[in-house]
Amino acid sequence: MNLAGKTAVITGASRGLGRAMAVALANAGANTALVGRDLTELEKTLEQTRAAGARTQVFRADVAAEADVLALEQAVTTAFGPAHILINNAGMNLRKPVTDFTLEEWNRVVATNLTSAFLMCRAFVPHMKGQGYGRIINMTSIMSHVSLPGRTVYSATKAALLGFTRALAMELAPEKITVVGISPGPFGTEMNQPIIQNPELNAQFVSKIPIGRWGNVEEIGALAAFLCSDAAGFITGTDILIDGGWCAQ
Ligand SMILES: NC(=O)c1ccc[n+]([C@@H]2O[C@H](COP(=O)([O-])OP(=O)(O)OC[C@H]3O[C@@H](n4cnc5c(N)ncnc54)[C@H](OP(=O)(O)O)[C@@H]3O)[C@@H](O)[C@H]2O)c1
Repeated sequence: MNLAGKTAVITGASRGLGRAMAVALANAGANTALVGRDLTELEKTLEQTRAAGARTQVFRADVAAEADVLALEQAVTTAFGPAHILINNAGMNLRKPVTDFTLEEWNRVVATNLTSAFLMCRAFVPHMKGQGYGRIINMTSIMSHVSLPGRTVYSATKAALLGFTRALAMELAPEKITVVGISPGPFGTEMNQPIIQNPELNAQFVSKIPIGRWGNVEEIGALAAFLCSDAAGFITGTDILIDGGWCAQ
């Protein structure tokens, strides 16, 4: 995977899957713009991307806020010039019955998981046009396809993000910009600590994964680097399940 000379914008790069993808792209030679709200945690990612040798910088932004995204686009352009790769990874989950959700909570999850992808694509797609290359990866989920109790708003946003991915892929295909979802199964990141910290729930969860373990974040990083490579130029308008077989059952 050689991404030398490419600039990648990765949201939610301060931990978890976003950090792993940022490091994988940096190791493949890409310049990386690391986006999140927690500067202390972003700096930890920066240590790893800097070690790869390409240019890298942290950017503080709430990707659910229009003004922040507009300012981010300006700041990234000033620092790196046009972006070639956008990874819409920032996301959140609230697990509880639909009747326990406030409207504010519903709106917050929708804004974080779905509206953010719209705002980021609207800001950065113009960078990619006319280059004959562009990559947009949206972090969808197994919950774009199947679900579990307590996941109404999360599943709704992730299924909608997959629809957004397909439609945007149609719009951008003539520009040779691909738009692909990565749909992870269970990965042991902060988002899943409520499950991991509960031994009974954890055992129940792992028993549902045919491969019999949680995913390693490096496995997501490797997939993202491949999807950004020239070798993946014919993959668009779909998502790649990386779920240890969860959805095959
Ligand atoms: N882990 C899994 O098993 C799994 C499975 C399926 C799909 N996914 C999806 O993969 C993505 C990453 O998951 P993860 O497990 O790595 O989650 P995580 O550890 O909870 O990290 C979430 C990231 O999103 C950022 N973020 C959240 N809201 C933001 C906002 N408003 N503006 C900017 N950044 C924001 C956080 O950064 P700050 O706190 O610094 O803002 C953090 O870096 C999510 O979209 C998630 O839904 C994960």
